[in-house]
Amino acid sequence: MITDSKIAVITGASSGIGAAYAERFARRGYDLVLVARRAERLQSLAASLTDQYGVRVESLVADLASEEGQARVEQRLASSPAVSVLVNNAGIARLATISTSPLQDSLAQIALNMTALTRLTHAILPGMLARNTGSIINISSVMALNTLPISSVYSGSKAFVLAFSRGLQQELADTGVKVQVVLPAATATEIWDQSGVPFAALPPEAVMTTDNLVDAALAAFDQGETVTLPSVAELGMIDNFESSRIALFGAAQTGKVAPRLQSR
Ligand SMILES: NC(=O)c1ccc[n+]([C@@H]2O[C@H](COP(=O)([O-])OP(=O)(O)OC[C@H]3O[C@@H](n4cnc5c(N)ncnc54)[C@H](OP(=O)(O)O)[C@@H]3O)[C@@H](O)[C@H]2O)c1
Repeated sequence: MITDSKIAVITGASSGIGAAYAERFARRGYDLVLVARRAERLQSLAASLTDQYGVRVESLVADLASEEGQARVEQRLASSPAVSVLVNNAGIARLATISTSPLQDSLAQIALNMTALTRLTHAILPGMLARNTGSIINISSVMALNTLPISSVYSGSKAFVLAFSRGLQQELADTGVKVQVVLPAATATEIWDQSGVPFAALPPEAVMTTDNLVDAALAAFDQGETVTLPSVAELGMIDNFESSRIALFGAAQTGKVAPRLQSR
């Protein structure tokens, strides 16, 4: 078991964005705990990162959509003396209308994208707060900001990640624990293979490479950005969105029925 002080735990590290985060944190000298279901993928990544960067890598094979898998990873986090970074990245997308989707697809997205992320955050936080240091990186999606007829659950789950992260940022503002939420747009990963939307259907010019996405997200992390849309050039657009959201919330605090809804 890894016991040194500079450890990054990355969920969904067997492919795509999570595998790229694993490589970047290994390059930065972190020992790693990599979580996913596909043991062979994890082990081969672990071997290559140890070989390349001399870091220690533990593969933790777990199904984070299951109660048993969540509890096992939770225990591993809670028992780790000094995990300094948690990347809550594991996620699935099942893009289809609710009326044509099996209930199981909706529940699996909720279990992985929301419940696992929440449980692992609960598990890691007491240790980070006790040491007054640590970073949590939550992977949301631009679909948190947009809902399509085929994305009710996926968009809802990613909107949860965004709201959850914003709340945590406020809760932890006066501590040494930092939270970044990342909202990638379309990125070239295996997620599309089982999403219901073929990767080939995406406009190529709208798709980012995994390397570019993770390098940009980590550049933002290093700059202390808290809400990161790696493909949005104008930071002002994010600020405007925040201002509108807060203005709308404020406008709801009247205690009065809106004139259009008053009974005549
Ligand atoms: N690609 C995009 O366009 C895009 C855009 C916005 C946001 N995102 C978000 O980015 C994150 C990473 O996705 P990706 O695009 O890199 O896709 P990916 O290549 O399919 O990676 C998903 C990772 O999650 C793991 N995973 C899936 N189900 C799991 C389970 N039940 N238990 C444990 N691990 C599980 C997978 O590993 P195993 O299969 O080995 O378990 C894999 O390592 C997700 O949260 C996704 O929603 C992606």
